[in-house]
Amino acid sequence: MNKLAPVITLDGPSGSGKGTIAALLAKQLDWNLLDSGAVYRVLACAAKRQGVALDDEERLVDVALKLGVHFQNHRVWLEGDDVTAEVRLETTGMAASTLAVLPKVRAALLQRQRDFQQSPGLVADGRDMGTVVFPQAHLKIFLNASPEERARRRHLQLKGQGVDVNLTSLLDEIKARDERDSQRAVAPLKPAMDAIQVDTTALSIEQVLKLIMDEVRHRRLI
Ligand code: C5P
Repeated sequence: MNKLAPVITLDGPSGSGKGTIAALLAKQLDWNLLDSGAVYRVLACAAKRQGVALDDEERLVDVALKLGVHFQNHRVWLEGDDVTAEVRLETTGMAASTLAVLPKVRAALLQRQRDFQQSPGLVADGRDMGTVVFPQAHLKIFLNASPEERARRRHLQLKGQGVDVNLTSLLDEIKARDERDSQRAVAPLKPAMDAIQVDTTALSIEQVLKLIMDEVRHRRLI
């Protein structure tokens, strides 16, 4: 691990606010950003394109190792195609969570994620950033919120993107994804022992950001 580049990990379930907070934090600190969920999502898109089943571990490993993915300016590119919209679909999220249970697939994506640890620092968001990918991280945050609040936020976010989805079915999907992400044998969704846990249900984005920035200063990461 490159000791010169500090890492802040933000883990939590979908809709906990980690994606938004991670992006704002990286911007404020002027650090690199790893949206690890997008890596799993792009793999799901690549598998679909190549007709690889979501439970075909060996072939998925092959696709993962050769994945031609590129992140730039909040956009995601797969083999030269802009797949930003496809990556954010709920169906892609479900597909990502299905292949994410496979241990060899997770292992194949490990180094790709660790390569993001570059100067001056990295903000990494996902499910296992603090437990598996960056166990030596300098600051670990675990964000959570009630399933109802998370479904409400996701609904608003999708509406803002012009996607109309039913709130009740979103809540069901969120609960199903939570169940799969936290029950899987490898790298389940759970707070690292040394993570600071924050319930964001009643907090604004600004309040969560301030709380984390106070900790960043307290630990002299900047
Ligand atoms: O965070 P996001 O909703 O984009 O992640 C999509 C799916 O990818 C999650 O439901 C989870 O199953 C998987 N994932 C994971 N480990 C990560 C990030 C995402 O297993 N570090």
